[in-house]
Amino acid sequence: MEKKHNITVDVAGSEHVKYVSEINNTIQSASEERGTGIARRTDDYITSKMNEGKAVIALDGDIFAGFCYIESWSHNKFVANSGLIVAKQYRGIGLAKQIKQKAFELSRKKFPEAKIFGLTTGLAVMKINSELGYKPVTFSELTDDQAFWKGCQSCVNYDILMRTQRSKCLCTAMLYNPKWEEKPNSQQKTEGKIISFKKWLKRKNSKEDDNFSLKSKLKRVMSVNAISSLFRNNNETYAETITVRNKQ
Ligand SMILES: CC(C)(COP(=O)(O)OP(=O)(O)OC[C@H]1O[C@@H](n2cnc3c(N)ncnc32)[C@H](O)[C@@H]1OP(=O)(O)O)[C@@H](O)C(=O)NCCC(=O)NCCS
Repeated sequence: MEKKHNITVDVAGSEHVKYVSEINNTIQSASEERGTGIARRTDDYITSKMNEGKAVIALDGDIFAGFCYIESWSHNKFVANSGLIVAKQYRGIGLAKQIKQKAFELSRKKFPEAKIFGLTTGLAVMKINSELGYKPVTFSELTDDQAFWKGCQSCVNYDILMRTQRSKCLCTAMLYNPKWEEKPNSQQKTEGKIISFKKWLKRKNSKEDDNFSLKSKLKRVMSVNAISSLFRNNNETYAETITVRNKQ
């Protein structure tokens, strides 16, 4: 029979400090089972995350179900989402996804300018991060804050990180850059160029622009390929206008 859960996923506060040992023990057993690194944090550290409103906790009633925390680095230029754990009995029902979503929202709210990143060896986390808009990057793109990398000391693979002068390890680095949101996509760019082109055509009809070189003006707003594709794409009126004007 399918188990019914009533799970809430919230930003953790001081009222959740009672779950700290359980969270750390669950991380510890998961780390031992996987045989790969999950950096362990002290109980005090997890407690401070909760008190600072920098952690997300999932509870099934009052039973611990999952956890994750955030921390800023390099003077708030970066935020890491770390320590993701879902208790065994709650795995495979999309809980990690919900926790990561909440941690992502919390990171964006607290540090809107920061790049958000995480390190992982797990496919589940890679999938979730990709859905949130993260991209895989080399370690060179991450914070160079010594304190962050010090946190890897408790990982079983720390020697690899040290051997490579912190340039690579078994974890994949994934990063979300809020600047990516601001960039217009290629469709928006094309639309922008078409609008400029239409405005220019209007102006071209006025006397003041009559002496302006057609070619140089066109090149200002569009690439040669874009112009020819615009003409190809059923915009014969503009094509004709250009031809007529060009002959004048
Ligand atoms: C990894 C972990 C957090 C996943 O939690 P979860 O709640 O079971 O994950 P979800 O149900 O939200 O699944 C998210 C996606 O990952 C996939 N997934 C989940 N566990 C997976 C696994 N072990 N291997 C491959 N894919 C997995 C799911 O199918 C889902 O993909 P979909 O969106 O394509 O369906 C959980 O297994 C865990 O706590 N493991 C031990 C600690 C750990 O590894 N932490 C990560 C440190 S970076």
